[in-house]
Amino acid sequence: MSTTPVLELRDVSKAFGAVIALRSGTIAVDSGSIHALVGENGAGKSTLVKIVAGLYQRDGGTLRLRGEDVDFSSTAQSKAAGVAVIYQEPTLFPDLSVTENIFMGRQPTGRLGRIDRKAMRHEVERLFTRLGVVIDPDRPAEGLSIADQQVIEIAKAVSLDASLLIMDEPTAALSGVEVERLFTIARSLRDEGRALIFISHRFDEVFALCDTITVMRDGAYIATSSIAGTSVDRIVRQMVGREVTELFPKQDTTAGAPLLEVEGLTSPGVFHDISFTVRAGEIVALAGLVGAGRSEVARAVFGVDHYRDGTVRVNGRTIARGRPAEAMRAGLALVPEDRRKQGLVVESSVGNNITLAIRHQLSRLGLLTVGMQNRAAREWASRLEVKSYALDTVAATLSGGNQQKVVLAKWLATEPKVLIIDEPTRGIDVGTKAEVHRLLSQLAADGKGILMISSELPEVLGMADRILVMREGRLTAEIPRSEASSENVMLAATHASEQLS
Ligand SMILES: Nc1ncnc2c1ncn2[C@@H]1O[C@H](COP(=O)(O)OP(=O)(O)OP(=O)(O)O)[C@@H](O)[C@H]1O
Ligand SMILES: [Mg+2]
Repeated sequence: MSTTPVLELRDVSKAFGAVIALRSGTIAVDSGSIHALVGENGAGKSTLVKIVAGLYQRDGGTLRLRGEDVDFSSTAQSKAAGVAVIYQEPTLFPDLSVTENIFMGRQPTGRLGRIDRKAMRHEVERLFTRLGVVIDPDRPAEGLSIADQQVIEIAKAVSLDASLLIMDEPTAALSGVEVERLFTIARSLRDEGRALIFISHRFDEVFALCDTITVMRDGAYIATSSIAGTSVDRIVRQMVGREVTELFPKQDTTAGAPLLEVEGLTSPGVFHDISFTVRAGEIVALAGLVGAGRSEVARAVFGVDHYRDGTVRVNGRTIARGRPAEAMRAGLALVPEDRRKQGLVVESSVGNNITLAIRHQLSRLGLLTVGMQNRAAREWASRLEVKSYALDTVAATLSGGNQQKVVLAKWLATEPKVLIIDEPTRGIDVGTKAEVHRLLSQLAADGKGILMISSELPEVLGMADRILVMREGRLTAEIPRSEASSENVMLAATHASEQLS
């Protein structure tokens, strides 16, 4: 085996106008290894990836593939050189079949130049067997889970015999089982001698999967270590440049009046007979596996999805179903899970996004001035450490994690009485995580009620006064903080042990 790295970047730089996205991108990825790339939101990870993918052209530095200097002016060139990038949300053609998606743009032709469908299908079956997955090759891509769509992208990469696979936060939207399947596939690709880059904000994943780790900070290379020779604490210090705690435990509060009362909420086939109360001063966690119906309940409570039976009361006021504006007036806010799609106006500025929701609150009262808007935007941007360079930065150009923070800021700025927050720290780096927790704790201490959906057990255990567990559309347990452990939460999420009466 040669010792030449599959990919080698040295001091690669990239600026967008005055914004330096990447100062000195440096990494060497060997064949037969999985290399983690970590750093805070905005550190330049995705920019580095996009340069290797041929999406962006670098301003300086060297880029080598298998020892040869390369220069990609298009994604097609990068692909042809054996690079495959799997994004968090793959972009398959929904109307085409799984097989057609895998062979997009390079259908094998049989005699008379006709597309050889049988050969294509056969090849896809072979690929799926090799990857150990069960997906119908003939079904359309539409409606496939994100996890399956990623697997299809990986199958495509393998069929193109890519020697380098890059995964940019692939696990952010996956359930535990799906993450395991992805890891099994990643390990087998490594064992075949391919090189992989894995980007994630979850250290448990990084340490479980990767062999080597490179840390970036402020667009620059900081250090590379073997996973075996480093620790989470050390990586965090290198990333952030200071000591941080990942978790800020909730302050003690006494629960006050009920602020959100949900009774018998049912949407056939989605969730069934959901009843719970969130009181002033409380953080109630809605735990469970991805797919248990937690986000669906949140959306129904807020009024963006319909439900068949049940009632929702906010601050004593019954909210007609399907009326988010009414829910907002009563003091309810929902920070959705998929913030990029559901919460952000990407073509608008950071400042406009943050003040979007308060604008119509304030203007209704005839109170809105530009000065007030700017103050609110500045305050929340700095409280969430949104690393944007100015409030007039276009949201589309922010890093993924910073976009998440802008949407958080937008809803927090409305100062709701009841906040439903879906996966509050997904995609958010370790340095800001504790800050988000501190903010939520502060809101509860101020007498607000919070319903927090989270798939991260440490977050649930550290933050919640009470934990509601959902499994397959039903509430299966209610566990007070004093009795909560990862074991009993997981058990209720998977086995319906303590059925609620
Ligand atoms: N097209 C663009 N125009 C202007 N600035 C950009 C553009 N793309 C990225 N940037 C800036 O470059 C910096 C690095 O962004 P990048 O997306 O690479 O970060 P990241 O490390 O992937 O962060 P995250 O963990 O949040 O995904 C950010 O400050 C971002 O705002
Ligand atoms: Mg990124």
